[in-house]
Amino acid sequence: MKLSVSDGGSVTDFQMNKKTVSTILEKKHANEKITMLTCYDYVTAKLISSQGIDIILVGDSLGNVKLGYENTLYVTLEDMIYHTKSVKRGNNGALLVTDMPFMSYEITVEDAVKNAARIIKEGGAEAVKVEGGIEIADKIKAISNAKIPVVGHLGFTPQAINKIGGFKIQGRTEDKYDKLVEDAKALEKAGVFAVVLEAVPERLAEEVTRCLEIPTIGIGAGRYCDGQVLVIDDMLGMFTDFTPKFVKKYANLSEVIKTAVRDYIDEVKEGKFPQEGNIYK
Ligand code: KIV
Repeated sequence: MKLSVSDGGSVTDFQMNKKTVSTILEKKHANEKITMLTCYDYVTAKLISSQGIDIILVGDSLGNVKLGYENTLYVTLEDMIYHTKSVKRGNNGALLVTDMPFMSYEITVEDAVKNAARIIKEGGAEAVKVEGGIEIADKIKAISNAKIPVVGHLGFTPQAINKIGGFKIQGRTEDKYDKLVEDAKALEKAGVFAVVLEAVPERLAEEVTRCLEIPTIGIGAGRYCDGQVLVIDDMLGMFTDFTPKFVKKYANLSEVIKTAVRDYIDEVKEGKFPQEGNIYK
């Protein structure tokens, strides 16, 4: 469907259904849940955006599930830009957010703005995500002042794995609980338009969600966040190295793929593939 607009251009279905930062903020105020999935390539972006996902996150979980690293610390800015370009070409309507990788925003405000700008200009993302609390508020403020929307990330922050000492639920002691609430408020003040809460007790996520005007998006943070996010390879049952309790597998694609590949190998060996219908005359 096309609608005429006053300047002689047209508004396509894509633009009409396009999710923006405003769409996401409105959802919180309308009490509508926000849906977010990670994605790293064109084909998957096409599939998931066709089903109406609100936000696609090109997460630096890329390092684990696509590049086979033991953690996200090895992921580079170039990796993130490369995968964002691929996702951008397949995305039809979702808000496209890309993670800033480890050490691309922590050192100086200038680096943070310059690297965020590369993700937007070269990758085609519409917003960036950064991990950390009040200690990176100055970087968030500067990126946001440079007209780049920012998502925060609190709780278990994988880029701090060496400091945290492994995958651990965060905010369980009273001081850590209070610190996380304060960090969330500081991020909102610094200009983020949403906060991801990872691996925190449900009660803490509920309190943060109540305290903030902006939406919270949970992963292992219980039922009361304004939205949910999962790593696509986890929820499709593709990545089997480690599955946290908070993951629900909506499919078991690793088994589907293994069966298909086994069938292919058998059929080639037995001369059953290719058949009549696969041959050029
Ligand atoms: O990198 C990632 O996939 C993430 C999600 C877990 C939110 O940050």
